[in-house]
Amino acid sequence: MQISPSILSADFANLQAELDRISTADWAHVDVMDNHFVPNLTLGLPVVEALVAVSPIPLDAHLMIEDPDRWAPGYAEVGCRSVTFHVEAAADPVALARAIRSVGARASIAIKPGTPFAPYADLLAEVDMVLVMTVEPGFGGQAFMADQMPKVREVRDAVRRHGGDIWVQVDGGVSAATIEQCAEAGADVFVAGSAVYGAASAADAIEELRALAVA
Ligand code: DX5
Ligand code: ZN
Repeated sequence: MQISPSILSADFANLQAELDRISTADWAHVDVMDNHFVPNLTLGLPVVEALVAVSPIPLDAHLMIEDPDRWAPGYAEVGCRSVTFHVEAAADPVALARAIRSVGARASIAIKPGTPFAPYADLLAEVDMVLVMTVEPGFGGQAFMADQMPKVREVRDAVRRHGGDIWVQVDGGVSAATIEQCAEAGADVFVAGSAVYGAASAADAIEELRALAVA
């Protein structure tokens, strides 16, 4: 069970200090948005490269961008240890996953709430993680979509049948109130933005989430 706090809810004027606040987490989740794939704009490759240099924990890049075929390998090249792209945006997900892995990063596919998993099940042969979105991508602080739990179960079942060390990540509205149902459905990597950065102690929030996920 791994916790990946999203810095989308961090203070963008103090990102190095905000990364230090989550040093007890497994990953730092970085939401890259291009204002085309989603109606919001965050940060890009130069900033991510700077974050890699100062982060006490590995970066988990979540690319909510058009044309990931062109841009995603660069995030692996600057040192992100996990790079997630959306299947809805990728022209050649097999080639893209291979390009990411060839640079030594974990490759991962993300699926929006309205996107079924079944058409992409063959990609399990090429990836290290599947991200099931539990909100519409674009913004932090949205309400958790419990109706995505059947998809988490479906992905976990497919991973079990496929074999190998493939993780199942959930992202969006994950909190102390919702993490247990995610774990029960088969998720093992949990992204939480507002639930961690909105807490007085990020470390306490991370520990609470971890304890609930393993329970
Ligand atoms: C949403 C992002 C999430 C977001 C989660 O598009 O992918 O990573 O930061 O934020 P919370 O945990 O507040 O829903
Ligand atoms: Zn995300």
